[in-house]
Amino acid sequence: MILSRNYTNSDIKGVVMDEGHAKHIARKWMFPAADTSYMGGLENRPILIHSKGCAVTDINGKEYLDFQSGQMGAALGHQHPRMVAVIEKTINTMTHATNTMLNVPRLRLHERLGKLLPKPLSKSLFLVSGSDTIEASVDLARKATGGTDILGFHAGLHGSTSYLTRSLSFNWERRKHSIVAPATASIMTPYCYRCPLKLSFPTCNFQCLEASFELADANFMSQPAAFIGEPILSAGGVIQPPDGYLTKLQLALKARGMLMIMDEAQTGLGKTGKLFGFQHETGVTPDIIGLSKHFGGGLPISAVCTTAAIAKKAVKHGYFATRSHATDPLLCAAGEESLNIVVDEDMAGKARQIEKRVKAAFNRMAKEFEIIGDIRGRGVLLGIELVENREKKTPANSLTKQIFNYCLDKGLIFQIRGTRGLQNVIRLVPPMTTTNGELDRALSILYDAIRHASKRHLIAFENI
Ligand SMILES: Cc1ncc(COP(=O)(O)O)c(C=O)c1O
Repeated sequence: MILSRNYTNSDIKGVVMDEGHAKHIARKWMFPAADTSYMGGLENRPILIHSKGCAVTDINGKEYLDFQSGQMGAALGHQHPRMVAVIEKTINTMTHATNTMLNVPRLRLHERLGKLLPKPLSKSLFLVSGSDTIEASVDLARKATGGTDILGFHAGLHGSTSYLTRSLSFNWERRKHSIVAPATASIMTPYCYRCPLKLSFPTCNFQCLEASFELADANFMSQPAAFIGEPILSAGGVIQPPDGYLTKLQLALKARGMLMIMDEAQTGLGKTGKLFGFQHETGVTPDIIGLSKHFGGGLPISAVCTTAAIAKKAVKHGYFATRSHATDPLLCAAGEESLNIVVDEDMAGKARQIEKRVKAAFNRMAKEFEIIGDIRGRGVLLGIELVENREKKTPANSLTKQIFNYCLDKGLIFQIRGTRGLQNVIRLVPPMTTTNGELDRALSILYDAIRHASKRHLIAFENI
């Protein structure tokens, strides 16, 4: 479907691209390109040329509702006018600067972020990607505690740099990578819909946590340093730990002298309906937070935040982390403006409204279609887990793919996610600026897609 406004190659000066040329480039000059490889076959998907608000447009002029917010970096909306203005202004003033001298946008960003952080967090350093924040947070925790072992959720994902972050991304098969970092181990994800211990919350009394730490204690190679996790596990299938879990977890960590690192790449800065994802549980404040994705409004800047006491201890032991572009005025000015937008435009409030509307629609659909097994997540980080059979909870991987293809064809994009090899969760991450009209349009496409898939599924089932 082609919506009202079409953008073509001629909108970008000097760029002419058709599908044939794109395929040629991908096959001749890119890797990995084989359809079977991860991140291969991209040339067969829409090739994007324009974005604005909640929409992206491909080279054929077809517009899509972007319910994945780019790679989650456009949660403020693509080309937010205030972001465009600050980028234009800064690029004409000072784009890049040495990180061995301070610059004004960098200082302003430290102050703005420091004032937003919940106490006792106050200090920040800047890097360029989410993976960077994980590497730097782990090093920070190790230098501050003197420990080494790091624990993470067994359905967690924390990035794709080759060594440490892949080792902590247990939801991907980490044995696929060339080498795994020592002193990294997983604990059970509190995935209540498919409890790894086959128990039910709240009568389970968090046994997954207890069992996990009993094993972890036996496996530690040294003094343990930290646990790292997402407040909602996004790529792992939008898994939301049950109420009270983070409190119990923090107690278990404190008892062992371990720090809590919250990877807020996907949950921070308004997306879950609060400024930070961990704030849904009162009384829990992590020791270290990583911010990335829409921090910077689409430009690559990330932050590691911690307390003055932890920073002091780590620095005493030689801690530092930086990148050549980490403190560029352009990125820092974008970082500051993205924080201003989150606060001034009440992005958290907008996310809460979006959650209400989307969940209400899926709750209605769940009455009609058996394949809707679970509806979860918060704000604009929402997951709908699809099953072939509600009682047995058989994962509906191929139906999920059918629904994805139908939606893509009708002009709606999102990503399929799941836990440890499953691919049965529709993950919806609309920008927080998505209008009710855009939401309703996406929901109507999803309704039709699910109706088609359900019908086909029931027929197939009857034929067995
Ligand atoms: C929770 C989480 N942490 C870290 C990362 C890595 O971020 P980046 O791709 O910017 O390195 C991701 C990437 O999707 C993520 O989802």
